[in-house]
Amino acid sequence: MAPGLVEPQYQPISTSNSTPTLKQASKPSNAHNYIPGRTTVQKYDDTYEYEDLRPHYPDITWPAYTEIPYIDKGQLGDPNFKNLLADASGVFDYNPKIGTEVHGVDLANLTDAQKNDLARLIATRGVVFFRDQKNFGIDEQRELGKYFGELHKHATTSVPTREGLEDVHVIFNGEESPDMRALFTPTFLWHSDVTYEKQPPSYTSLKVLTGPPRGGGGDTLWSSQYAAYDMLSPYMQKYLESLTALHSAELQAQGSRELGRTVRRKPVTTEHPVIRTNPVTGWKSVFFNPGFVTKIVGVPKTESNHIISLLTEIVATSPEVHARFQWRAGDVAFWDNRCTDHSATYGFAPHRRHAVRVAVRAERPYLDRESKSQEEELSERYAVPKALKDGSGVLNYND
Ligand code: SIN
Repeated sequence: MAPGLVEPQYQPISTSNSTPTLKQASKPSNAHNYIPGRTTVQKYDDTYEYEDLRPHYPDITWPAYTEIPYIDKGQLGDPNFKNLLADASGVFDYNPKIGTEVHGVDLANLTDAQKNDLARLIATRGVVFFRDQKNFGIDEQRELGKYFGELHKHATTSVPTREGLEDVHVIFNGEESPDMRALFTPTFLWHSDVTYEKQPPSYTSLKVLTGPPRGGGGDTLWSSQYAAYDMLSPYMQKYLESLTALHSAELQAQGSRELGRTVRRKPVTTEHPVIRTNPVTGWKSVFFNPGFVTKIVGVPKTESNHIISLLTEIVATSPEVHARFQWRAGDVAFWDNRCTDHSATYGFAPHRRHAVRVAVRAERPYLDRESKSQEEELSERYAVPKALKDGSGVLNYND
């Protein structure tokens, strides 16, 4: 067993009370110059290390996507992730529903068996975090993405200035950038990437190249849509299983046009099931996000609005199904876009925040009505008690 490994065989949703092995603050202490709510703003000179990955909006267009085959590598992964975790010095879950942090694994040097385990772990836990991935540059990030499938090319967001990286999405807020929070409502910020595509992404990696120092803001949150499904009553689950929703790229395209940018692929609107099955875990999840879903199909507008509002509330405001990641430069988050939503946070100006994202085109969403939910399976496997589904419970938590 690698030193510091929490469990000989990592079981997701472990109830182990082991704590993460984080390095102690190095001495001398910085307590004497602590200023509440203030962090030192780093100045960058002309030799910025990631000059070639600065954002750029190329004036090019691409044809519409056509259907491609997709085989999920996660299905080949070991159920205990033993190949991936053989190299790990630590692993711990953020909470029972979502989020796992793995220490001591170099994403730039994985065997195929480890990549398969990685995919399986991401599909199981929704999002997996890796700290300080020095060797995992943009070329390695793309290579790992390509192992999982064809990389998605975003039709409107920025790509790196270096040519040939049009399948990389760049996020950049400079020292002069205004705080963006006025542009979006906090619930609208929750999204799953490009779900309007016929084959929306599965495995998606985001590396923060440069960011605020610890405490300077810019965290990202993920919300489990497996858990969102489990939060519904059996009646609502069955009802939503019978429905589809429209996911639209129109608003995003319109925003780009208003800024005078080229929309590189014609915007699409696609009908997807509201509940889908993940092919790796076999678990049902909600497949919804406030950012792109415009309508529930085949029901009156009022009903559609209320379903959208119910799902938005569950996704955006249920802390126990969220994982929040406080980035340091060099960290990588890898999520399964099929069963999670995520949200950026603002309020970090005037720090520079620069990140690059790579996403893989996956299968067309489908629902297998016979599939289980996450809670059902964990309750069977580990005797985890199922949550009460009847709101008339005995305790009043508002007291
Ligand atoms: C994203 O929405 O894909 C990126 C989130 C972030 O910048 O924190």
